[in-house]
Formats: sequence, C-alpha cells, structure tokens
Amino acid sequence: MTDTPVPDLGLVPVPHEVRLTGGELTLGASTTLDAGPATEGVARWLRATVGTATGLDLPPHTTGADGPVLRLAVDRAAAPEAYRLEITDQGVEILGGDTAGVFWGAQTLRQLLGPDAHRRANLGRTTTWTLPHTRISDRPRMRWRGFMLDVSRHFTPKEGVLRTLDLLAAHKLNVLHLHLTDDQGWRMEIRRYPELTEVGARRARTRVGHTASDLWDERVHGGRYTQDDLREIVAYAAERHITVVPEIDIPGHSQATVTAYPQLGNTDALTPEQAAELDVWTGWGVSPHILAPTEHTLRFFEHVLEEVLDVFPGEFVHLGGDEAVKDQWRASATAQRRITELGLRDEDELQAWFIRHFDRWLAARGRRLVGWDEILEGGSLGPDGEGLTPGATVSSWRGYAGGVQAARAGHDVIMCPEQHVYLDHRQADGDDEPVPIGYVRTLRDVYHFEPVPPQLAGTDAARHVIGAQANLWTEVVENQQRLDYQTFPRLAAFAEVVWSDPATRDYADFDRRMIAAHYARLDALGVDYRPPAGPRPWQRRPGVPGRPLAGEPPIV
Ligand code: ACM
Repeated sequence: MTDTPVPDLGLVPVPHEVRLTGGELTLGASTTLDAGPATEGVARWLRATVGTATGLDLPPHTTGADGPVLRLAVDRAAAPEAYRLEITDQGVEILGGDTAGVFWGAQTLRQLLGPDAHRRANLGRTTTWTLPHTRISDRPRMRWRGFMLDVSRHFTPKEGVLRTLDLLAAHKLNVLHLHLTDDQGWRMEIRRYPELTEVGARRARTRVGHTASDLWDERVHGGRYTQDDLREIVAYAAERHITVVPEIDIPGHSQATVTAYPQLGNTDALTPEQAAELDVWTGWGVSPHILAPTEHTLRFFEHVLEEVLDVFPGEFVHLGGDEAVKDQWRASATAQRRITELGLRDEDELQAWFIRHFDRWLAARGRRLVGWDEILEGGSLGPDGEGLTPGATVSSWRGYAGGVQAARAGHDVIMCPEQHVYLDHRQADGDDEPVPIGYVRTLRDVYHFEPVPPQLAGTDAARHVIGAQANLWTEVVENQQRLDYQTFPRLAAFAEVVWSDPATRDYADFDRRMIAAHYARLDALGVDYRPPAGPRPWQRRPGVPGRPLAGEPPIV
C-alpha cells in the first residue's frame, strides 16, 4: 500500500503533514479509550464532547477488550503542542509532545469524524463512525495564537465566553485576551472596590451604530463577571489548553472607572459641571478621562491587580496603555506637579512612568506586563533598570512598527495590526455589510496576514514575535449573532496563519477546505458566520451608520 498525500480531509487549520494510508476504521460501541498519564483531561473532553455528539461511550480500555482502541499518550520527545495522529485497523493513536498536543490531536480527530461530531447531542442516525486510515504529524507555528474579545463596549455573558473558548479550541487557538474595562463599562468584580461593578458595569443607554449615528437603544446596558465566574472561565479555558489574559486598561479608557471612584480622576482639571455629569460613557470614541497620576491611584490599582492575579494564574497581565488622551494631565496642577517632582519632560513620560510602575510591580510577583504599543513611548525603551522590564511584552496594534521596535529592543511581541486582524473591520465593500467599520478585510486578506514583517524576517529579533492575535472590538457588536458574524469565518483563516506552515499557505486550498467541510462544522457548532455570498437577511442592518474607511489601509 502506498501512502498518498491527501490534501482533502478539509482540516482547518491545515496540519503540517497528512497522509492517507488506505483503508477505513469504524468506531462503535466496542471502541474503548486508553488514556495514558497526563491525558485524563483530554479523555474527559473527548467523552463529554465528541462522545456525546457521536453516541460513542468510549469506556476505559481493559486488557483483552475487543474492538478498536482510542489511545492517548504523551511522548515528551516531541515538541510542546505537537502531536501525531494515526488511524489504523487497531484504532486511533494520538501522541502529543505534551497534554496540549494530545488535545490538539483530539480536535483534529473530531474534525475527521465529520460535522455532526461538533453538535451537542447525537442526532440518532448513527452510532458508528468511519475514519480513513490516516497518519498526521502536526505542530503549531506560533506559541501565542490569540483572540481578543472586548466585553466592555458590549458585554458577553459568561455562557458566551465559555462558548467562545470552545470555538477557539476547535481552531487550535490558545489565548483568550479579555478586554475587561473601558470607558463604557467595567466588567470584573473587585471585592475591595465594589463600586467598580455596582456603578461601572452599566450605562444608561447605548448609541446604535458608530459615532455618526443618532440612533439610541434606550435600555440600560450592562453585565459583570463575579470572581467565581472568571475562575470558572479560567478553569474551562485551562481544560482546553487556552490561557485567559485579563486586560485592565490604564491609564486611559478610564471613564467608567472614574465614574465609579471620582477620586481616581483629575478632579482639579474638571469643571463642576463636568464632574457632575460624569457617567459610564454612552457614546463611542476615545474618552478624555484618564487616571490621575497620584499615589492614591497607584495604591488603588495595586489592590485591584492583587485580585486580578488571584483570579488569573497566567503569566501575562495586560494593562492596556493605549489611546491615553493627556489633555486632563495638561490641565491638572496635580499632574503637572507630579511631572516636575519626578523630573520628567512631559505627559508622555508621565504615562511611561505610570506603566513602568505596574510593569515592575507585576515582575516582582513573577508576572509579565503586556501592553498596547503605546507603552513604548515616553522613553520606555531606556537602558536597563530605567525602561520596561525585559519580560514586558507588546501588542502591536497600530501596525507593525511598534512590534518591530520592541522586538529589536529584545521585548516579546504579539502582532495584531489593526490593518490586518481587527475583526470589527468590515468583511466586504457595499451596503450589505452590517454597520460597516474600518477597512475592507476579507477572508482572503486575513488569510494572507503575515505576523512576521519583512524587516524582521531572518533576523534574530524575529524570535521575539511570539505570536499573533485577532481582535474584536464590540461598539457595534451587540449580541452573539453579531459577534459570530464579525468573527467567522475570518477566525478560521487567522487560525491557519498562526498554526500552519507559512510555506504551504494557499488560499484556494483553504477556500476549498472551508467549502468542503469547515462551514458545515461551523453550522453544527451553531456559529452564525458570514456566508461567502454575503450576509443573510437577518445579518443586515440597513440604516445603521457605521464608520467605513475607504481604500487600502496604510500599512505601517
Ligand atoms: C486599540 O485598538 N485601541 C488597542
């Protein structure tokens, strides 16, 4: 029997190597599961998810049992997250370089079983499942394969976050960055400061459409996660080998924070009317409210972060740092005094001082700061001991430039340039796109996104590009259907960018796999994606103004 290279099992993201070896295996009631050390969690996931969908009970394997065996094992000789999946007459073997590798192999097995293996219950048509004899060898291209969800502008209830984690896992993505705070809402319970969610987690009303819109939803919008909700999210993610990175955005994007605790604001820079009118923002854009650079603010956020670290055990904590409007600092005598006392040149250096404080605070606790690329400004790349700590990591969103600068300075970088992978940007030109935002970023555009820019390719600094991330901002993403529409199918293309070998990137092949198999999987998963031919009638939003940008995005 000769091995045939197989392009056509419809796997997404495409594995490193796939061979059909001829023949078929049928799984049924006699199929048992042999879970080796450290694979118990994967076995639990397989039984609960694939077992429920297929009707395969997958009882534990016992010696002498007849029937095919689904064998899971860790082989530490293989690379982290890598796996080999082999389907023969005897059964299925998934060997992972670590538990995560076994889990990604299990996701591939689910894809091979067909779309109905992605449902939450068995349709009652069959409990036997046929698989082609196959040998797959697979490994991720990048270590950080992320998706950012903004839960501030529109809140995603806990169930929606858990569902998002399932969808990330199905695409072998392994980081969920939760944007938990912004001008329009603070979403994480902080026990020491209850007003953050008592006051900050709701806004009086919401503009429907982007800033040019005069339409309003007059209902209160809100929602928050208790710490136990977030612990559940973190644990659910961990079972799926996904790390949750919390973002507490400071010092800008702080209108909701300052509404909850006005002393955190620049009280001496506000007129009495401005102070009296302070509310959780009902509009979109960038609010001028920025945290006061006082000792009180530093202590407050240390207390907040103590609770954040307690709930989120991961290495990285995102502290935002983006789009901090400095007008209030210019107008505040307190802020100006602070600049003088610290011997700083200007407000940009004051922001750098603020971020550096928390960078060091996190580093002292064994964690690493992540911030948007503005954290590089104001002299943050100073000499050792003055600038950011070596572990500080940059989310390069305004383009590649920040990421290139950071990588060359020895900092790790996550590439998420808005010109390529902001999933709030519209997917096609024309009036059919609901509330169109930003540039046209088609499925093909996202597929062709390259995380390592040419300036870094082949240089030592390229190793600092530890991954990439697709970001979804939710000003006009009001519910789960809309979230699905903006995110899919483009997140499938993004998954292939960060998982698969760039040398074999081939859009025509990807498109064929999508049509042959992956849209059907998304259907079975209940994802309301944008169909290739354009939005379905209920996905349109005629008459709701967006903020489209013309032409090709300037790539910087
Ligand atoms: C951002 O889009 N303001 C990070």
